[in-house]
Parts: sequence; structure tokens; C-alpha cells
Amino acid sequence: MPPAFKSSSSAPLLRVENLSLGFKANGKVTPVTEGVTFEVRPGEVFGLVGESGCGKTVTCLGLLRLLPKVGSAVLSGQAMFEGKDLLHMSDEDLRSVRGAEIAMIFQEPSAAMNPLLPIRSQLLMPFKHHPYNGDPEVRVTKLLRRVGFADPELVLKSYPHELSGGMLQRVMIAHALLLHPKLLLADEPTTALDVTVQAQILELLAEMQRESGLSVVLITHNLNLVAQYASRVAVMYAGRVVEEAPVADFLDNAKHPYSQGLLEALPRLDEAAHVPKPIPGSVPSADKYPSGCRFRDRCPYAFDRCTVVPQWTEISPGHRVACHLFPHPSPSPLPSPSVAMEREGGKGVR
Ligand SMILES: Nc1ncnc2c1ncn2[C@@H]1O[C@H](COP(=O)(O)OP(=O)(O)O)[C@@H](O)[C@H]1O
Ligand SMILES: [Mg+2]
Repeated sequence: MPPAFKSSSSAPLLRVENLSLGFKANGKVTPVTEGVTFEVRPGEVFGLVGESGCGKTVTCLGLLRLLPKVGSAVLSGQAMFEGKDLLHMSDEDLRSVRGAEIAMIFQEPSAAMNPLLPIRSQLLMPFKHHPYNGDPEVRVTKLLRRVGFADPELVLKSYPHELSGGMLQRVMIAHALLLHPKLLLADEPTTALDVTVQAQILELLAEMQRESGLSVVLITHNLNLVAQYASRVAVMYAGRVVEEAPVADFLDNAKHPYSQGLLEALPRLDEAAHVPKPIPGSVPSADKYPSGCRFRDRCPYAFDRCTVVPQWTEISPGHRVACHLFPHPSPSPLPSPSVAMEREGGKGVR
């Protein structure tokens, strides 16, 4: 399939700056994300990737202030959307943005829907809270068809428990698009869907991009989707962004050892000889992040400097990486693991 989304202009629609987020329990805050910075331009698909537990979902929930409030989530930083800071605007202002200007497709559709209400009431609800020019019933029915339901009426009278996970996910995608949002935070939007429906949904998002300039933050662990649909990508590891690049540049020339690990772990149909190589180990939980570079325990290149937090280095315009292998001012090429270890006196940091 040809790439559906790719275009972008330069002024950001959303600029997230130094978003840090933690959870408080027993009087102690466990930081989960730290200094997350990225921007999304009008009409682009921005990929946010990383293994499970890296902080992709909490970042998006944090942007819309949808995290548990009562003494639990702690947020700092800035998220400028069309000149207003989402993190500091009044609850009332944020309610008018949520759903109408910025919509989210949640990773867990069954948890995001009210089990006691039929789908019709849930899909018509946003129209009660936001002004809309047109007939809500027509819009709802049209979108249900667009996400692949041949009989929208049947879906509308169903309750969530009567639908499969994939059907619920499609209902939620329709729900997110109802009010023509400018920005869609799509958290693993097609994970529960088979590949044909996945392609149909992504083609729908591409059409919305062409028709109305929709921007999408595409959160996924599937780099193939990013390669196909996104124009730029940021990689998160253990609560931090570690690399950001235009997608083509990233695919050919990823610098961070974690990004390289993700690419090497990808199964490839185009290269019969390619054997996917998993990254050893797993993402640490937030209370066990190592000091310095959080990837150092799993990194084949780790050396003593990695106990210090790496700063950003710009590799080329729009391509930046936070890794001590690329120090200021002149980034050096990535050496092989053995060279890196010899240079720093033998052992990787453990
Ligand atoms: N309500 C919460 N309270 C405490 N920790 C949480 C909460 N929600 C998420 N976390 C922690 O935040 C980290 C990032 O989670 P998440 O954003 O779901 O990752 P991803 O979406 O990248 O898989 C995980 O370590 C997770 O355990
Ligand atoms: Mg998630």
C-alpha cells in the first residue's frame, strides 16, 4: 500500500516541553516520565514508539489530564496547543478542548466505555457537550460505516459487552472522530484488529488528514506502522525520549542503541535472511530505573560515562539522540560493541 500520511508543515500544533509525570503513594512520588519533549505539526502523523511500560500511554493521558487525580498523579512541564497550555488551563477550558479539538483512542476500549449504556447513547454523548453543525445521528452512522460496520443500527443498539474487542475498538475510533478533532492521540489504535481492518482504519485516518488536516500521534510498538504512516518518530525508553528523527532517516540511520535494538527485533518479509533479534532483558519498572542512561543495563555499548544522564546531540536537522556515544560537538559514528567496550576499558556498565 502506498504511504498514506507523510506531509507536514513546520509550525507545531502541539508542543510538549519537559513533561514529567509521577505517581504518589504513601507520601512518596515515583517519577515515571521525565523531560518528555516533542512537537506535532499540523497534518502530520507523529509516531511515538517504545516497548510496553516506557510511558507512552501515561504521556498522552497526562496531556489531557486524564490521570487519576486524588493524591496520585503529579505533572509538570508545558504542553502548548494552539497557544494554550493544556497542563495549566482551567478544567472548563480543557473540557472544551477534550473530544472536540483533541481526541484520544484509548488502548483499552472496554475500560473506556460505559458498560451500562448502549453504544448509541455513548456515541451521541459528545454532541450534548460540544456545539455541532449538522445531524449527530447522520454523523454517527456515517462514521460507523467508515470504520467497517455494515449494519450501524445493530451496533448502536448493542451494549459494550455484546461486542468483541475489535468491534469496540472500531466504535471507539468512530467516537474519537465524531467532532472533527484537529489532533488525535491514537494509543495502539489497531492492536486488537486484524490486518485488513487495520489497513481500513489507517486509510480512514489518512483520508481525514487529507480532508481536514487531522494530525495524529500514533502510539505503537509496531515500527512497520510508523514506517508506513508517520512522517516523524520519537522513541521512548523508561519514561524518557531517547531519539527523535524524520522516519526515513530513522529507518536508515537510527543512532540510539535502543532504537537500533527495536529495528533489529522487527520481523521483515522483504529480507528472507533477516532473523529478528530481541533486545535482551526488559523495561524496568518506574521504581527501578537505573541512574544515568536508563538503557545502560541492556545496552551492548554501555561504558562508565553512561552512569550520567546523556544530553541531546543533533545528528542532522530534526534528528537528535541522547546517548554518550554521540557527544557534543561532533558526533562520532557508532562503533561496534567490542570497540566501545575496549575504548572505555573493558566492561559494559551493569
Ligand atoms: N496509575 C498508575 N500508578 C502508578 N504507576 C503507573 C500508573 N499508570 C502507569 N504506571 C506506570 O507507568 C509506567 C509507564 O506505563 P505506560 O504509560 O502504560 O507504558 P506504555 O504505554 O509505554 O506501555 C509503567 O511503569 C507503569 O507501571
Ligand atoms: Mg500503553
